[in-house]
Formats: sequence, structure tokens, C-alpha cells
Amino acid sequence: MLHNFLILTTAILAVDAHIAAWHKAMFCLNGLTNEEQLTNRDVAEPLYNLSFDDFWMHGKCKDYPPPDGEYLELPVGGKAQLEHAGDRGLTTLSWDGKFANLFPDKDDHPEYDNGSWDNSCISAPNLHTENATRASGTVLAIAYKSDIHDVKQEDMVVISVLPNTPWHRVAEYDIPADLPACDDCICAFSWIPNHCGQANMNMNAFRCRVTGARPDAPKLAKPVPAKWCEGKPDDCVKGAKQITIYHQQPEINTVDIDNIQQADGHWASPGYNEKTGFYPGAQNDIFETSDNSGSSSSAPSDPNQMPMCNLKARSFKNHRRQRRRLLSFGGFHLYADR
Ligand SMILES: *[C@@H]1O[C@H](CO)[C@@H](O)[C@H](O)[C@H]1NC(C)=O
Ligand SMILES: *[C@@H]1O[C@H](CO)[C@@H](O)[C@H](O)[C@H]1NC(C)=O
Ligand SMILES: *[C@@H]1O[C@H](CO)[C@@H](O)[C@H](O)[C@H]1NC(C)=O
Repeated sequence: MLHNFLILTTAILAVDAHIAAWHKAMFCLNGLTNEEQLTNRDVAEPLYNLSFDDFWMHGKCKDYPPPDGEYLELPVGGKAQLEHAGDRGLTTLSWDGKFANLFPDKDDHPEYDNGSWDNSCISAPNLHTENATRASGTVLAIAYKSDIHDVKQEDMVVISVLPNTPWHRVAEYDIPADLPACDDCICAFSWIPNHCGQANMNMNAFRCRVTGARPDAPKLAKPVPAKWCEGKPDDCVKGAKQITIYHQQPEINTVDIDNIQQADGHWASPGYNEKTGFYPGAQNDIFETSDNSGSSSSAPSDPNQMPMCNLKARSFKNHRRQRRRLLSFGGFHLYADR
């Protein structure tokens, strides 16, 4: 055990991984191999500037399925639990959870919760946020298909939003009460950070099944990409939405936010929150029967807004130039992913 611990701490302390969602029914539980790897973080590698196939479901992870019979269970009207962590070794999936902590890394970090943190960007673990309030939110999505290689963008519907995450390791997603049954589906986690680190995002997949569904449950509507709508709830896409693709190769990104600044003065970051029309919790308006014609929105006002000097709006077509400018702005973006 001491030997394992030394390997573990060396592996994990050396770098700050990005965050992935872990469960025994995930693709890439052992990383990019079928041998047992109690510590590995392949699936926590952030996704940046990739083609669709290299991005979607975390690229090659599509070829490393969970063992037969393992499923992430989605009990309708209940919760599905995932573990947010930068490495498998920091979850209950290795060594009976000996190194699993309150936060997604090796420590409990009381300073992040007890008011003593100075609200600078947190890099250990690499949460890409200054505090829980600013954490951009993560999602669980489902496709009613069983072959991961057959799942397309328009098959996958976001069913649950967990606001202010990633933050603590244990993450519980509310499952819509009307979700139709599925014995063998593909689910995915996704996260688009709100700055505080390098530009990138993450997505990883699970084999999942929906339990307790009503026989007459409605079908999911065909999902469409979310749109930027900060401060303009009437512009938000209502109803079933796709996984948002951002910071990948330009032709696959799904949200057009070039030259838009968000209310806090940073360049727009299309996270899973009210800025792109995602409300917290189970997404209950995603069905063919949902009435999404109303223009009033239940979206709460943006808790991420913070008073800070606004950058003067400028036209920078090139994202790299945007990022360089941000690097020189207030020291907010100086943390790297690794
Ligand atoms: C993104 O990828 C393309 C094609 O692979 C490459 O030409 C380009 O330099 C990359 N851009 C960045 C910013 O890494
Ligand atoms: C918060 O936690 C940190 C780290 O354990 C500790 O040093 C600090 O005294 C705590 N502050 C409060 C107000 O409890
Ligand atoms: C979170 O961090 C931001 C950025 O540093 C700060 O403006 C805000 O007041 C913090 N929020 C809380 C609840 O501490």
C-alpha cells in the first residue's frame, strides 16, 4: 500500500489534471487500455482544438467500453451519482476510496469552503474557477442508442444540469421524472469552464439505463444547439438542447460568440448555465410534448455576474489574440492545465 501510495502521490501531485466524471460504467475507466489502471487520467485530459471524432465522447475512449453489465442507472425523478476527479485514484473506484476526498483531488481543502480563500483562480484541483459561485456548471446527457460509435450530436440530449460544478467530488444529477425507459443507452458528462485556466472543455461517456420510467413516457424532442443569451432570456433556446461544442476546430463548434463579452467583462464563455439558456436541475422541457412556445423564461438571473472593470469592446477575430489580451488582464488567466 505504501508503494501504491507513493506512485499515486507522484502521479497526482506532479500535475493538476483537468476534471472528468467517473463511474464504473464509464468508457476509459482504465484510460486508453483494457488493463486495470488504478491511477490514470486519460479521460481527464482537457479537449482542445480537436476534430469531431477526436473530441466526441473523449475521442479514442469510445474504444474502451465498460465491462458488460455495468450501467450508470438513471432513476426517473431521482438522482444519478458521478464522481468528479482528475484521476481515477482519487475516486471510490480505486483502493476502496482510500484517496477519495471532499474535493476532486488529494485534499479536503477547507479553505475553499470556509470563506478564507482569496477568490483567486483555484488550480489544485483544476476547477477553473475562483469559488463555488463562479463554477460554470456541468451536465449529464443521454442518447437513446446503444452503440457509442453510432451516437451523433443530434442524438444526445442534455437531461440534467448541476450548477456551480465541478466543485466537490460527489456530483448528483437530478433525472427528469418523464424520461422514457432505456435498457442500454449511452450517456455523457460535459463541462465548459468559465476561464480561470486554459481554453478547453471536457466530455466523457458512460453506458447507462433509465429505470422506473412510465410506460407512457413521452419521447425526447430532437435537440438543437444552445445559443448565447446572457441577459436576454427571450433569446435562449428553449427545450431539448445538444451538448455544446466549444474551443474545438472551428467547423465543429456549436455556439457563435465571436467578439461577445459577458457581463463580468471576460470574453463570452458558453458554459452550461443561464448564459446559454440552461437552467439548474432536471431538464423537464425536453420532450416532444413539452410546450416551449412561451417567451417568458424561468431562468434565474446570472449568479456569476460580478462587478469588475469592463474591457472596452473590441473586435478580435482571432481567439488567440483574445486570450493573449486576457492573460495581461488582471492576472485572472495565468493558470495552465498541466
Ligand atoms: C488547431 O488545429 C489545426 C489543425 O490540426 C492546426 O493547424 C492549428 O494550428 C491548431 N490551432 C491551435 C490554436 O492550436
Ligand atoms: C479555513 O481553512 C483553512 C485551511 O484548513 C484554515 O487555515 C483556516 O483557519 C480556516 N478558516 C476559518 C475561518 O475557519
Ligand atoms: C467569487 O470570486 C469572484 C472572483 O474573484 C468574486 O468576485 C466573488 O465575490 C466571489 N464570490 C464569493 C461568493 O466569494
